[in-house]
Amino acid sequence: MTRGLFISFEGIDGAGKSTHIARVAELFRQAGRAVVLTREPGGTLLSEKLRELVLHEPMDLLTEALLMFAARREHLVLVIEPALARGDVVLCDRFTDATFAYQGGGRGFDWQVLAQLERMVQSLPNGGLRQPELTVWFDLDPQIAAQRLALARIPDKFESQPADFFADVRAGYAKRLAETPERFARIDAAQSMEAVGADVDRVVTNWLNKVDA
Ligand code: TYD
Repeated sequence: MTRGLFISFEGIDGAGKSTHIARVAELFRQAGRAVVLTREPGGTLLSEKLRELVLHEPMDLLTEALLMFAARREHLVLVIEPALARGDVVLCDRFTDATFAYQGGGRGFDWQVLAQLERMVQSLPNGGLRQPELTVWFDLDPQIAAQRLALARIPDKFESQPADFFADVRAGYAKRLAETPERFARIDAAQSMEAVGADVDRVVTNWLNKVDA
């Protein structure tokens, strides 16, 4: 049996990750792999309800962080762990790095408290920590992201934040990368859609060759 793979996709709002995630899913399917394409906050019935709350209601910062991790816990237990146990490829549109970037970087919430919640929620029976094996970070200047978003859709609670907020979110992602560089692949999302797509394919293919999955 092939072993499960866990890949996450991250970046500030407007960085354009959704299109590329769908393409990566197609690449794996063409290679004969079962793919679970999912997202955070969300991915289960309850987690999607929590998503509605956390993306639209104003709330205390610790409450916001707890709800992100509560949604993640459900998602891990009901979707991600079973998929990995089956040997599927799990592609997740955002995971814990988003909590460090948005709640930690953007909101300025305590990084160490987030690290405690991360350990509580993502600990494995063998004492390890469940993390994506590869995190593709679509890195983009917040000014460019804001221009792209302005054309795109009605903003939610996070998308309507000012550019300064996204500069802090971006710094949060950079800090996470510095903490675990071996897991991260940074992609320059200011390039054309085609060039970003080619980079994503290259990153995923190189990584697959390296881990030989
Ligand atoms: P996003 O994934 O961009 O979905 P869509 O493309 O449908 O808008 O939206 C999720 C939002 O939630 C995004 O603004 C980032 C934010 N978020 C956090 O603040 N913390 C988290 O832990 C996660 C997973 C997301």
